[in-house]
Amino acid sequence: KQPLRLALAGLGTVGAGVIRLIETNAALIERRCGRPLRIVAVSARDRGKDRGVDLTPYAWEDDMTALSARDDVDVVVELVGGSDGPALTLARKAIADGKAFVTANKAMIAHHGLGLARVAESAGVPMRFEAAVAGGIPVIKGLREGAAANEIERVYGILNGTCNYILSTMEDTGRDFADVLSEAQAMGFAEADPTFDIDGIDAAHKLSILASIAFGTQLDFSSVDAVGIRRVLAADIAQAESLGYVIRLIGMARVEGSEDGKKRLFQRVHPYLVPKNHPLAHVDGATNAVVAEGNFSGRLLFQGAGAGDGPTASAVVADIIDIARHWESENEIDPAFSIPVGELDATVPA
Ligand code: NDP
Ligand code: HSE
Repeated sequence: KQPLRLALAGLGTVGAGVIRLIETNAALIERRCGRPLRIVAVSARDRGKDRGVDLTPYAWEDDMTALSARDDVDVVVELVGGSDGPALTLARKAIADGKAFVTANKAMIAHHGLGLARVAESAGVPMRFEAAVAGGIPVIKGLREGAAANEIERVYGILNGTCNYILSTMEDTGRDFADVLSEAQAMGFAEADPTFDIDGIDAAHKLSILASIAFGTQLDFSSVDAVGIRRVLAADIAQAESLGYVIRLIGMARVEGSEDGKKRLFQRVHPYLVPKNHPLAHVDGATNAVVAEGNFSGRLLFQGAGAGDGPTASAVVADIIDIARHWESENEIDPAFSIPVGELDATVPA
């Protein structure tokens, strides 16, 4: 079988991780998808930057949209970030050019995922975004495939590695918030703008995507009620501890009935008190964990690294493998893998 030919836009933490993974596990991946993955072209801002990976085998494009115009590219992988700007321009162009599209960009999917999915569906090209929620944990695949037979009643969890790292480190060491934040930034977990992490916006992006997949409803980021961890003090953590709790930033979503008989989507990100005997109380560091309650499966717990180069690359490459296995043969996308378009009055109750 012909190789699946890839173009990578963005060569930072995740982009370099994807190159390392594809190079390291090339033989295993080829066995598993029946064809090799071949990176043909890459793009980022600074061509001269040392990224710890050898870029000489790959063509370089200064303008990332040129990646999608190339005839020798089947899949465009966007690892740049940002809800709008170059990432969105590239996404639209890639789909219009008939390329499969893979992204880790939760901000863009939360804001524009529905529109992009509709265009991708009508163009018959796959769009995948497993890494956009909970880094290396295959939670989107888990809900879409493993829990497909269930009505999901509630989905909640720890969706931001930076906040979890900060809270659990403050808990262990009694250190200050700002001090631990700079450490999380240095470890490559935090967003380019870390206020997205600490103000709960990144978790809100992920929660809106997760809720859409779990409940089959339209993505509705604007109705997520988000509060971050900026105001959590070491003293709050100590008080919680003395009462038998830990503090974790939790994203929580469920479908609720309301007095007017309509169903509504409740989506909230907030620091919650978690009892010490709850599994989420033992999730430390940049780990993420998602709980989904299915009406037949019962409580499912997905846990793993929510950020970082290796885990995130693992999710990105899993999406690429999915495309390598199925796209050519089916040559159309399975609607079950698109972003749901189900109607729901998605107002957050006051
Ligand atoms: P980085 O900041 O490490 O890398 C971003 C890359 O994009 C860099 O290579 C940068 O180029 C390039 N870039 C940025 N702006 C432009 C531009 N205007 N034109 C061309 N290239 C540009 O980000 P991450 O790798 O951490 O994140 C990438 C994506 O993955 C984001 O959407 C993020 O939210 C998501 N993600 C990240 C995770 C993580 O743990 N880091 C986990 C899950 C998802 P240059 O290097 O030359 O400056
Ligand atoms: N900044 C994000 C986090 C990266 O800390 O969880 C993973 O999405």
